[in-house]
Amino acid sequence: MPRNDHEKWQMDLEEYIRQGEPEQSEKSTAWKTAIGLQDVDGLKTSEYLLETAKEHIEGRIDIKTAQKRIQSYYEQRQIRTEIEDGTKEADFVSARITELLGERTFQFSPAEWKTIHKRLFKDIFPHAGEYRTYNITKSEWVLNGETVLYASADSIRDTLDYDFGQEKQFSYEGLSAGDAVKHIAKFTSGIWQIHPFCEGNTRSTAVFIIKYLKTFGFSVNNEIFAENSWYFRNALARANYNDLGKGISATTIYLERFFDNLLMGYQNELKNRFIHVDYREQSAIQSAIEKDSKCNNCTLEELAILKELLKNPSITQKELAGIIGKSERTIKTRTVEMQEKGLIRRENGKRNGRWEVIANI
Ligand SMILES: Nc1ncnc2c1ncn2[C@@H]1O[C@H](COP(=O)(O)OP(=O)(O)OP(=O)(O)O)[C@@H](O)[C@H]1O
Ligand SMILES: [Mg+2]
Repeated sequence: MPRNDHEKWQMDLEEYIRQGEPEQSEKSTAWKTAIGLQDVDGLKTSEYLLETAKEHIEGRIDIKTAQKRIQSYYEQRQIRTEIEDGTKEADFVSARITELLGERTFQFSPAEWKTIHKRLFKDIFPHAGEYRTYNITKSEWVLNGETVLYASADSIRDTLDYDFGQEKQFSYEGLSAGDAVKHIAKFTSGIWQIHPFCEGNTRSTAVFIIKYLKTFGFSVNNEIFAENSWYFRNALARANYNDLGKGISATTIYLERFFDNLLMGYQNELKNRFIHVDYREQSAIQSAIEKDSKCNNCTLEELAILKELLKNPSITQKELAGIIGKSERTIKTRTVEMQEKGLIRRENGKRNGRWEVIANI
């Protein structure tokens, strides 16, 4: 048995050499030598390299494309590492993110987002908390170096007002958690596409969304965002990029996978290469294993309650109300409904009872 993905791919290469068409065998030998010659550091990058090699061997891409892809992958990683190591900016901002998330205040408005930006980047960026006054493009690895089309500088205010207005009117009442996640992904990608600031849009979006999600009763922190910050960004880019000539259309599925992990405890693999515009094959398999039946039948608020009940089955309604941020009366109504829906069960009567979670979350 191969011990890891790396070894498995090595074995696949051997297989090509032995059984493949002459041309495949030749290409495989070349790759094997190339990979053997350089000490491939880090499983993640080597995996990406081998994946690209396979596509080349099977004739789906030419060697120029393979080289370009690998190069840009390394470059982008390098740039990000430099940002993180070189300037300490990321550390400063992380500390401020934690501080902001510790505060319970929140108002659902563009002004709130602006304030968040200002507090995150004060004394770091010259225009912290100010909308940009020029148009921008940003080259993205995930889009083969292309850029998302961001809102033009003179439409920032209007588009923000529009998106926030729409979301304010939207009702999550009675929506299944799966549909609610879809909607949240759509709203998030919509406001991110506006990119109102010159820099720091993704981080301020993350903080804003975390605070927004807290109003639904979720105890979300920045960890999953920070750990998957490049994935989060790439998923947002894919949600806002079309190249219909090449069969690429904007999709929020990658972002939904992120939110499914964050909110529903799914364990989708959040790999950047799955999101790359050239990555075809595997994504079909990924989608197929996605979305099992986990709590299809409950709303976001119910899901938040379920999570707390799992953590502490003997929690009181008062405590629950405090954590979820709703009145005791609402919690009472919800738990009755949830019992009727068969999501939870009350054991041992009223006083010393415990909650049993029946729903599969
Ligand atoms: N939620 C987060 N928490 C902590 N660090 C983050 C988070 N999101 C991004 N980062 C880090 O911040 C740096 C810059 O990230 P990135 O350029 O993707 O986003 P941004 O500057 O916030 O937004 P944009 O470039 O789209 O305006 C990277 O080093 C990244 O790892
Ligand atoms: Mg940036």
